[in-house]
Amino acid sequence: MTDGVTRKSQHLDIVLRRDVSARTVTTGFEAIRFEHAALPEMALGDVDLSTTFLNRRLGAPLLISSMTGGPERADGINRAIAEAAQQHRIAFGVGSQRVALEGGSTGLARGGFGRHLRDAAPDVPILANFGAAQLRDWDGADMARRAIDMIGADALIVHLNPLQEVVQPEGDRDWCGLTEKLAALARLSPVPVIVKEVGAGISGALATRLWDAGVRIIDVAGAGGTSWAAVEAERLSDERAKAIAAPFRDWGIPTARAIVDVRAACPAATIIASGGLKDGLDVAKSIRLGADLAGFAAGVLEAALAGGDALSGRVGVVVEQLRIACFCTGSRTLADLRHARLVTDAST
Ligand SMILES: Cc1cc2nc3c(=O)[nH]c(=O)nc-3n(C[C@H](O)[C@H](O)[C@H](O)COP(=O)(O)O)c2cc1C
Repeated sequence: MTDGVTRKSQHLDIVLRRDVSARTVTTGFEAIRFEHAALPEMALGDVDLSTTFLNRRLGAPLLISSMTGGPERADGINRAIAEAAQQHRIAFGVGSQRVALEGGSTGLARGGFGRHLRDAAPDVPILANFGAAQLRDWDGADMARRAIDMIGADALIVHLNPLQEVVQPEGDRDWCGLTEKLAALARLSPVPVIVKEVGAGISGALATRLWDAGVRIIDVAGAGGTSWAAVEAERLSDERAKAIAAPFRDWGIPTARAIVDVRAACPAATIIASGGLKDGLDVAKSIRLGADLAGFAAGVLEAALAGGDALSGRVGVVVEQLRIACFCTGSRTLADLRHARLVTDAST
């Protein structure tokens, strides 16, 4: 068995060094094309990408998604993310706080969590994180308060990762009763609860159940990017377990499909698009399909490891790409972009 700290460190190395993206399933963004506006009648500088999330004004509709990394590197990664997020006024989520929460006071120092993140990013939404499976054994409301306090968070992400859990030997296999636990958490949490997947997507039907449970913010984290079945398969040494995990590399609801389905199921929800987003054009497509915000994880990890300046540069490129997509569709605002025309059949 591998302890949680070692496991997180292995995840980071695997995502950085191996090819663990989905192979046959894609995000679906490649099939979507905006109709080009050759005479946009506006200046590039007229594009306003600002939006509001969790009562904070953002410079662009972006989120750096939750990533854990093991204690040696998590501190550097989290600091870089906080710096870049503050610079661009975008939201960020920390990786799972489980180890720190279970480790008591000594655990707080581990994993790069602490109030220094809020000090480095005073103006942007910071999202706490733990897994839904933990709600079985924990007093959810108490853990939520501790997770939120630890970093001064504006909201709490609860991640759903049933596939990742069952393909690893030490993973949680019992997911019974968690909808009820989530509903109780949504009632008692001092901040909004966000529910996300980790790369296999959230369906419209599940979004409806989550909405009924009181969850108002959903991050679809769809398929087409990082495949957690592939990440876990890389960690496994047992050939049988590897063989079991292998076909699930391409499991899941493609990100574009998940955005459309969740928006149709929950018209009033705040929807975060993530899972395999590569650039600002994918962000534009996400917004057009119904998302409010777009999140990046693996695609910004290398930059985050290189430091705040590198990450800020990477985010700056995404912002500029999004701005150009708005300009070339004649959209001054994100509200305009939601109605931008699409090419229905790209081959003609
Ligand atoms: C190194 C790494 C660590 C991650 N750790 C967490 C985590 O602790 N909690 C969580 O909710 N998601 C975690 N994720 C999942 C991401 O937040 C995201 O949902 C998923 O990777 C899909 O997005 P992507 O295709 O842009 O990577 C992690 C992702 C990466 C790459």
